[in-house]
Amino acid sequence: MNVVFLGPPGAGKGTQAVRVCERLNIPQISTGDILRKAIKEQTETGLKAKAFIDQGQLVPDDVVIDIVRERLAMPDCQNGYILDGFPRTVPQAQALSGFARIDAVVDIEVSDDKLVARLSGRRVCPACSATYHESRLSGKTDCDKCGAALIQRDDDKAETVLNRLKVYHDQTAPLIDFYGKQGLLRTVDGSQPLDDCFADILKALGV
Ligand code: AP5
Ligand code: MG
Repeated sequence: MNVVFLGPPGAGKGTQAVRVCERLNIPQISTGDILRKAIKEQTETGLKAKAFIDQGQLVPDDVVIDIVRERLAMPDCQNGYILDGFPRTVPQAQALSGFARIDAVVDIEVSDDKLVARLSGRRVCPACSATYHESRLSGKTDCDKCGAALIQRDDDKAETVLNRLKVYHDQTAPLIDFYGKQGLLRTVDGSQPLDDCFADILKALGV
């Protein structure tokens, strides 16, 4: 099954994609994670992307479209995948339909006020990208999965978060209509507790 996870920053796309991918044994393809790795490794793509990400702006379409086209051609994508954070603009969605067949689009909905609290409390593992929220860490500062010291993402600072939300409403939310018209959209309430949201996503995908 080839699935797109849509939703505003902080909706839980990454958190839920990890769980659904484990369940279905398919890869999670997060363009955000791929770009952050490229920045860390100072590749040409990383150098191009950094200024956009730091300001909460989208990286240019051609850069992310090339990344995803190459990634989907890899053998582990043959039995399905979850695209987490791509497409994010109508041109990206149009490009995707030229090189992939999407079976379902899960839109995880959460109101803006909740998103700000989620993002400001998010902690991530710089080594394995595992994601946590400080309210559930009970004071722990290391990654449960690999032991590395957790960090706050640079773009989770308050002013950048507000910009990311604006960019989402302006440029990404139109995809709800785009995929709705194609009959692919499944909407899930992302403000529920993690396990309930997970159960609703599995139900929406019929798995
Ligand atoms: P990206 O990394 O994709 O960030 P994003 O879309 O802004 O989404 P997030 O990763 O912030 O949120 P999420 O929905 O994954 O939430 P999470 O599960 O972590 O992109 C970063 C940047 O890269 C972009 O701004 C852009 O510059 C660039 N980029 C990436 N893709 C691009 C593209 N296609 N085109 C152009 N540019 C691109 O959860 C958030 C927090 O909430 C966590 O702390 C979590 O523990 C908590 N939480 C999750 N679910 C729940 C719940 N049900 N209840 C309570 N807490 C919860
Ligand atoms: Mg994410």
